[in-house]
Order: sequence, then C-alpha cells, then structure tokens
Amino acid sequence: MIETIDYRKGKVRIIDQTLLPGEYRILELDSVEQVAEAIRSLRVRGAPAIGIAAAYGMLLSLDIILREKSGIDRQYFFDREEEVMTDIRGIEEKQILGALARAGELLRKTRPTAVNLSWAVESMNDAVRKTERDPALLVQSAARKAFEIHREELSCEYNIGRFGSGYIRSGMRILTHCNAGGLATAGYGTALAVIYQAHSEGKDLTVYADETRPLLQGTRLTAWELDREGVDVRVLCDGAAASLIASSSVDCVVVGADRIAANGDTANKIGTLGLAVLCSEFGLPFYVAAPLSTFDLSLESGDGIEIENRSGEEVSVIAGRRMAPPGVRVYNPAFDVTPASYINSIITEKGVITNPDAEKIRSFFDDHSGR
Ligand code: MRU
Repeated sequence: MIETIDYRKGKVRIIDQTLLPGEYRILELDSVEQVAEAIRSLRVRGAPAIGIAAAYGMLLSLDIILREKSGIDRQYFFDREEEVMTDIRGIEEKQILGALARAGELLRKTRPTAVNLSWAVESMNDAVRKTERDPALLVQSAARKAFEIHREELSCEYNIGRFGSGYIRSGMRILTHCNAGGLATAGYGTALAVIYQAHSEGKDLTVYADETRPLLQGTRLTAWELDREGVDVRVLCDGAAASLIASSSVDCVVVGADRIAANGDTANKIGTLGLAVLCSEFGLPFYVAAPLSTFDLSLESGDGIEIENRSGEEVSVIAGRRMAPPGVRVYNPAFDVTPASYINSIITEKGVITNPDAEKIRSFFDDHSGR
C-alpha cells in the first residue's frame, strides 16, 4: 500500500509523481491553488486519486477560512488522525459555503475526463447540503465526508482486488497500460489491485507494463510500484504491445478507467483502445477494473465523454530536448474511449459485470445502489 495522498495537520500531502522513480518527494500543499496545480500537472494523478485530492482540497479551503476568520488560534483544524474539530465561532454559514463552492469549482475544472473528480466535488457539496444550517455542523460534515471518500475508496480497491484475482491463474502473463496502481488511487489500485491480490495469494505472475507515451506512467510508475512489491515486471514500448499479443505472449489485458458511460463505453489512458481491439482480434480477455464512482450514468455512451487534450510539448519535447521540428503541430489527447463491445468484464468493488451493456449496468446499479 502506497501513501499516495493524505490530509495531515491542515495540509494535503501527496507524493510528487512527476519526480518518480528518481526521487520520492512528499509535497505538503497548503492552498487550494496548489492542489489544483498539482492535479493539472499530474503531480497527483489517476482517477480515484484526483477525486480524493479534490475532496481534500475542499477541506483545505475550510481549514484556511477557519484559521483566518474563526477567531480561534489554531495551526490547523483537521487531521486524518484526530477527531474532527467542531468548536467554532466567529464564522458564518455563508462564508463556509462560499469557501467550499469556490474551491470545488476551481478543482473541478482542473481535468475534465476522470469523473471521480466531479463525483468527489458533488459528494462534498451533497454532504453539506444535507446538513443543518449550523456552521459547526457544516464544517463537521464536510470533514467527515472528505475522510470517508478516502477511506471508502481504499476499501473498494481491496474488494476490486479480491473479485479480480478470481480471473488470474498462477503462471499468467498480464499486460497493463498507464498506471492504475496505488499511485493512481487511495493506495492499492484498481487494475494493479487485481495483480497485488493475486500476487499475495502466491500466484506466479509476469506483468508487462506499456511505457505509456507521452508521460510514461507505465515505465516510471507502474514498473516502480510492481518492482517494489516483488512482482516480476517488464516494460515495453507502446508499439510493441501488438506483436506481444499476436505472438501469444500474454494471457489477458487489465486496465483502469477514468469514466465509464451508462452503456459500458470506457475512457482510459490514450492507447487503451488499441489494446482492446488487439485483444478482440487475437482472442484475449480484456478487463477493466474500476470502482462504481468511475461510472457516469448520466452519459448514454462514450460519445459524451470529454477527452482532455494536453500540451503538444508533452509529445514534441523529450527530457528537455525538442524532437519534432519547430512549428510542427501535435495531436495529444490524454485519453481514448473503448466501446463496451470490446470489454469482457468490468471488475468493481461490488462484483463483476461481464459483457457489459446498458441493461446489465442498470440492473447492477439497481442491485448494488452505488455507494
Ligand atoms: O493522465 P493520468 O495519468 O491521470 O491517467 C490515468 C489513467 O488513465 C488511469 O488508467 C485511470 O485513471 C485509472 S487509475 C486507477
């Protein structure tokens, strides 16, 4: 388990993922703008982790306004390890709601594709909306919700691991893309939770990690995580995945997700679609592992998913050196959408949806009623 993100003594603590694997540096963020910058620049990244970051960013906005306006001399009001502080005076309901709303809007706009981000902002807003109009109670329910989002996410990840491990036999060779591990989540992962669980059950595995151009989440992060857990991991160029699959050198592909539409169409890191098509062509199972908070039932299909386009420099400049001729334009979408018809199963914390489609997903949610 990795301490990807935490809220300690009035600060949002993250591992700066842009520096891994060369440097393991903890950042202590003490303004909402810093949290927003950390999400935008992928210091903290991965759908569930940015959801938790948004919730903690909103909590931080309360810590700040309480320090400024409550008249109570404290260095911080919230800490994951302590009882939530409720004794507040000198601050009005509208100041609390205003701080939360401003922070929520800023954070929501940082990255558009992963629904976990807006889901977390909405969950925080819902928690205060349902609370009596008493400043102390408002603050208390916002804090409880932020810590609950983090705690529940972690428990979902362990359950995803348990359900997913049922698909993994000893000796299997598994291909994954991007990083859907502890670093992308509350600490255990989604796609990698399946691998961690199978590994902890003593299954002998080989994991192929696509490098994941342009930001190399596979080479830098997935390889780092799996290696430190003692899982046999090999990295490969994204372009090598086709020949690996065609030569029957992998048994299945497992990836995470950033947003899953009501019909099962799934947005994930750019390059995922190609793997799904390859699996279909060569008869390999293609699994998506994701918590229910990654579903966006308001979207009928993947056509409605907004895809984040990132700076062309991420592609044209490598390690500070310009590779493309100056002036050449770049196509750099961060995600693609895999149609549900290519997905064998979606592994969630409540169970597995096989051959997902709109009807199966609707009845799965009816049975398990979200979280
Ligand atoms: O741009 P990133 O690194 O945030 O993209 C992350 C992914 O695409 C992950 O596969 C996805 O968020 C699932 S993480 C459990």
